[in-house]
This record gives sequence, structure tokens and C-alpha cells, in this order.
Amino acid sequence: MAWLYILVGVVLLLSLYRIFRAQLFAKINSKMCAKYNKMIASEKETLFQKLNEQAKAKGRTYTILELGGGSGTNFGFVKEPVHWVVTEPNMAFAQYFQENVKKNGGDHHISELIEAKAEDLSQFPNASMDAVVVSLVLCTVQDPQRVMNEVQRVLRPGGHFFFIEHVISQPGTILRYVQIVLSKARIWPFLFEGCQLHRDTGKLVKQQPGFAKTEVTDFKLNTSSLLLGFVRSHVYGVATR
Ligand SMILES: C[S@@+](CC[C@H](N)C(=O)[O-])C[C@H]1O[C@@H](n2cnc3c(N)ncnc32)[C@H](O)[C@@H]1O
Repeated sequence: MAWLYILVGVVLLLSLYRIFRAQLFAKINSKMCAKYNKMIASEKETLFQKLNEQAKAKGRTYTILELGGGSGTNFGFVKEPVHWVVTEPNMAFAQYFQENVKKNGGDHHISELIEAKAEDLSQFPNASMDAVVVSLVLCTVQDPQRVMNEVQRVLRPGGHFFFIEHVISQPGTILRYVQIVLSKARIWPFLFEGCQLHRDTGKLVKQQPGFAKTEVTDFKLNTSSLLLGFVRSHVYGVATR
């Protein structure tokens, strides 16, 4: 009989977690991302250096669309004042986002957090953005290919797509196998609000037709954390429309 109580207890706990996951994720993610950003600060600085150069060279307001911006962890990496439009499907991030705008928003003109999934950016016209930014988002979206098509659509000719993402480990590693199992069994996505460990985002961006040039750099997190070990492999890069 005891096993029945344990089973009911576990099901109840998992259901409660499922109900409050979006709020919990927003809270925990907002705290964790500050630490995470320190770990990947040099890669982000290199990535956003190019964006800074582009914004400086523009000679007019430079507009960035950030997808899945969460609590807004990237504002400090852009030194040039820009018009920053941020979308996010989980509006539980809004309060943390506002805090970050106040703390790190600098001279940017930052929009209110706009509720939208990256798969449907229909509220933004074709060729309306100088840059689109994603950080740790393509692991979680439901349909990465649709997102890439939308990115392509909203970018101006000559505009840039900046991305930094965790990706699947190299073929032949045990970690790769574990990442596939945890993702396909829906264990990792259940725990981390839809995040998948086995996406090959560098390849996805390289294969996207319509970009004149795509640069992708691989890097690994320098971490002894067991949890972060699952997302050790990363890519960052820029694709030019
Ligand atoms: C790991 S967090 C990263 C947040 C933020 N970009 C950062 O770097 O701190 C993943 C983000 O992707 C968002 N997300 C999930 N599904 C999405 C979708 N379909 N379209 C856009 N964003 C999505 C989540 O709500 C969350 O804010």
C-alpha cells in the first residue's frame, strides 16, 4: 500500500511543478543567468563587438529584435545606444525584465517586453530590423526552422543575426548519447521548460538559405558543475542577410 501513497505523492508533486513551472523557471532563470553570463562573458563580448561596430557605423538609430529575451541579460554587452525590442512568450519574466532594464539598460531605448513566440513574428514587418539576437533560446523553441525563416524575413538586407546557444556534443561521445536520451524521453524538457539538449544549432544556421555569410564558433563551458556539464558544448556566431 505504501507504494501507492508514494506514487500519488510523486504524481502530485510533478503536477504541481508542471502548473507553476513557468513562474518558477522565470525566477530561477533570472538569477542563474547572471552567473551563467559571467561564465560566457568573453564569448558574448566577442559576439556583441560586431554588433557594436555595426551600430556605430549606422549613423541612425540601430534596431535590435531580441527573441526569448527572458529577464534581459544582454543589455550590458552593447555599448552603443540602440533601439532594443524584446519578445518573450513567458510573461512571468516581465518583473525581472523591468528590474534589468533599470539596472543595465544604459542609454538604450528598450521596449516593454512583448509577448510573442519566435515562430510567429507577424507583428514585425519584413526587412524592419538591423539585427536579431537570440541567446539560449533555439534550444527551447518548438520549431527552430520556422524561427529561422522569421529571422530571415524581419532582417533588412545586410542585417545580422547574432546567436549564442548550447548545442549537442560531438559524435562518438557518451554525453551526446545522454543528451539525446534525456531530450527524447522528455525528461530534460519537462524539468527545464521545453529546453532540448540535442539541437545542432550551428548547422541549422549554416544551412539556412538566404544568408550571404555565416560565421560559427564552437566553444565549451569551463565548468565543474554536474548540471552545466549537460550543456557544455556551445556555439556563437553571426549570419549576414
Ligand atoms: C534559457 S532562457 C534564456 C533567456 C535569455 N535569452 C537569456 O539569455 O538570459 C530561454 C528563453 O526562451 C524563451 N522561449 C521558450 N520558447 C520560446 C519560443 N517559442 N519563442 C521565443 N522564446 C521562447 C523562454 O521563455 C526563455 O525566456
